[in-house]
Amino acid sequence: MVDNASLLFSLAERTADLIKKHVNEGANILVIGHNDADALSSLGIVCGSLKIIDANFTCRSVARIEEFLESECGDYDLIIFVDLGSGYLSELKSKITNSKVVILDHHRPIDIPLPQDWVQVNPHLFGIDGMTDISASGVSYLVARHLHPDAVKYSAMAIVGALGDLQDKNGERRLKGLNEIIVKEAVDAGVVTTSEDLILYGRSFRGIHQALASTYSPFIPGLSGDEASCLSLIISCGIEIRNGDQWRRLIDLTEEEKKRLYNGIIGHLTTHKYPSSIASELLGTVYEINGEEAWTYTRDAREFATLLNSTGKTGKAWIGISLAMGVRGWVLEEANKLLEEYRRSIAKAISYATSQGALEQMHHIVILRGGTEIDPKQISSIASILSSSQLLPEDKPLVAIAQEGGLVKVSARASSKLVDLGLDLGEVLRKAAEIYGGKGGGHRIAAGAEIAADRLTLFLLEVDRLVGICMKEAGLPVQSTLDEE
Ligand code: C5P
Ligand code: C5P
Repeated sequence: MVDNASLLFSLAERTADLIKKHVNEGANILVIGHNDADALSSLGIVCGSLKIIDANFTCRSVARIEEFLESECGDYDLIIFVDLGSGYLSELKSKITNSKVVILDHHRPIDIPLPQDWVQVNPHLFGIDGMTDISASGVSYLVARHLHPDAVKYSAMAIVGALGDLQDKNGERRLKGLNEIIVKEAVDAGVVTTSEDLILYGRSFRGIHQALASTYSPFIPGLSGDEASCLSLIISCGIEIRNGDQWRRLIDLTEEEKKRLYNGIIGHLTTHKYPSSIASELLGTVYEINGEEAWTYTRDAREFATLLNSTGKTGKAWIGISLAMGVRGWVLEEANKLLEEYRRSIAKAISYATSQGALEQMHHIVILRGGTEIDPKQISSIASILSSSQLLPEDKPLVAIAQEGGLVKVSARASSKLVDLGLDLGEVLRKAAEIYGGKGGGHRIAAGAEIAADRLTLFLLEVDRLVGICMKEAGLPVQSTLDEE
């Protein structure tokens, strides 16, 4: 019997053949995707592979699907959507009349018939979970590896994209499902090396205290963003912080010193009455990209994902796409500057989001209003970091909002506990946004929406109500606006 993964692989291969046919006919191709790490990795994989086969293509990154829907379609023979499209098939069908379409996505597809010459490669169509088992960059890679044998180098970007979409958040901090197959392919091809270690940010080139303070996934209250506290913790663990005039790095520590550091972090968490389980998220598989220099952010796949996010979320997605395609030199230097800017801005936003009174409680959701403190382009990153902090109640999803002109950008995140109980945030946001003239969707655990500012209160009430219904169906005790209805 053919398994579901084989069916997906075979569709990916046939899609690559179709793309090659278009390329051989001299087609004018548009490749379009979102602006987060998974999307930029996907764009890099597809555009890099198209470049290898001398295709004629244009690449475009959009912050919101409306940017595409509201602009001219352009005179393209083929449009390839990456990390975008499956949730908006009706809109794309109405918009695109003259081009062939390929969708490489991992969002749950809307159930409508597609035009005959459109192709959708999506794990959900084969019963494979696109939230946990493979991301858009993984899907893009499954196609790209059939465009040219050299595209195997992009297996690294498939890993970067999956980690950018937090697909390692499964209690083990390692990629599983189809991602694991891609990791094996990358390791066998000598592209990536894996090891089990502490997961700190800047592990091979920053001082240990700097690496610990730069770690936001997981968010460690009292340490993330606070170099001085990290330094005193490391000293209190009896770990030498210098070797001559050089800071010691994580990779310089002995196994015994790493254990002491880990226990020191647990001690810090329990002393300050935070859950010690946060520390377990610091242990997992490290994915290193072999061709990259050890002192760069492109060496460790998780750090590469943050680098890509920093380009997309500071409005310079083209830098991220170039990096993902394999360009280095001054492009990498530019990206490093954006990363510094991004990190400063994230640190400021997190300090605001974790300050007293920043979170508002509704019956079934917690709201974070970005106000003037959070850049709307970064509200999604803040929502992800905050939801990994274990500072939020497990039984209420976070709905983070930031206004840009007359439009509000919404980023919502749920705990795994709520998802296991049946909550589908993507559906909740899609339905609530639809009622109030906006657009919403996404995964069960992470979803987003855009809504007119003057409909925001009604939209939030609807989200609260829909989450309440879900809680009630799951048999949870709900304090309720629902009962009053
Ligand atoms: O568009 P896309 O599916 O790539 O985006 C998913 C978003 O959800 C990413 O920004 C990712 O960081 C976030 N996410 C999250 N928590 C999870 C899974 C994904 O915040 N457990
Ligand atoms: O923007 P953010 O990272 O919060 O989005 C979370 C998830 O929701 C992503 O997978 C994104 O593609 C999806 N989303 C969507 N429709 C929107 C906004 C976000 O499907 N209007």
